[in-house]
Amino acid sequence: MLGQGMSTPASQGVPRPVLMMTFLLGLSFMYYKPQMKFLSCPIDQAPHAGRLTAIQADDDGDTDTIILIWMWPFGHAFDIDSCAYFNIKGCHLTVDKNLYSKAHGVIFHHRDIHGDLKNMPQEQRPWFQKWVWWNGESPANTNRIPGVDHLFNLTASYRLDSDIKVPYGSLVEVTSEDKIFELPKKDKLVCWVVSNWNPNYKRVQVFNELSKHVKVEAYGRHFSRYLDNEDYSKTLSSCKFYLAFENSIYKDYATEKLFNAMKLGAVPVVLGPSRDNYEQFIPRDSFIHVDDFSSTEELAKKLSFLDQNNEEYMRYFNWRENFKVQGWWFGLEHACRSCDYIRRNKGYTTFHNLNKWFWG
Ligand SMILES: *[C@@H]1O[C@H](CO)[C@@H](O)[C@H](O)[C@H]1NC(C)=O
Repeated sequence: MLGQGMSTPASQGVPRPVLMMTFLLGLSFMYYKPQMKFLSCPIDQAPHAGRLTAIQADDDGDTDTIILIWMWPFGHAFDIDSCAYFNIKGCHLTVDKNLYSKAHGVIFHHRDIHGDLKNMPQEQRPWFQKWVWWNGESPANTNRIPGVDHLFNLTASYRLDSDIKVPYGSLVEVTSEDKIFELPKKDKLVCWVVSNWNPNYKRVQVFNELSKHVKVEAYGRHFSRYLDNEDYSKTLSSCKFYLAFENSIYKDYATEKLFNAMKLGAVPVVLGPSRDNYEQFIPRDSFIHVDDFSSTEELAKKLSFLDQNNEEYMRYFNWRENFKVQGWWFGLEHACRSCDYIRRNKGYTTFHNLNKWFWG
């Protein structure tokens, strides 16, 4: 399914620096269902009730858990037909605010909450209803809103200590239907795509150092070298290594940069949280961590060594025998997993000190 998404033309851009990266890379599949209709209607009139094609199977009337998506993230609609892709049944996702008093859960995208909370529900919260805080960005790219501290019942984010965990990607077991992995042909050693070039970022410093010792094919505005969707996938596949360098370094913040590289058959060289933290997401022998080396020069030596020793290089793909990469579906996945969680956990729960938890 994701492979299908990959060849689909990018959807409209998402007007934010971090998501822009994804747009630039043409990886709309990470965030949206390929066949979604973009911005086809305002949130209050989005089609939900009439579209029973996919819901029908799930729909057993009153027992469905209703999840109200209070606002489209960044103003962009996505298809909410079904949670079947996540193997979750019994959910009714809606954006119809008239269902507020019936909704078991209401999910709020952090970036779209006004600082004065004026766009939050003004009616009283039904006693059984849970509010879910939803965010996909790192603390560095998320604005603090003091008023949300004691407002929510549950959290949905990439953080592994969220109630509802939605990482940017994960490894899932291959099935007999999957093609056996074949390493794509390589004609480049190290590649990097950067949308936000900031000389103060650690990743830029590491890149500058690394390029003194080894050739790095770099793309993005800073280099005036652009890749469209198709080129992006082709290019990444043709690189032995890909610099999966995060813009900010936080626990559990391993983004699509990592999972795209793994999916497309490039060995990720990561800059982000600790190696231990990465190993909670991916096998220890599937990636190279910048911190594994005492200097950037040592890292460059390792990459050159692996360039010359194919057998050693191929070890980084051992995991492919059993696993494949699954990206996330920003938004739909948050809503579906929230539904599943709320359906299974009916007790009273509240989340205090959100600001402290997320920003520290
Ligand atoms: C949800 O959290 C709010 C705010 O802390 C609390 O008043 C409410 O009782 C909680 N509801 C449920 C169903 O846990």
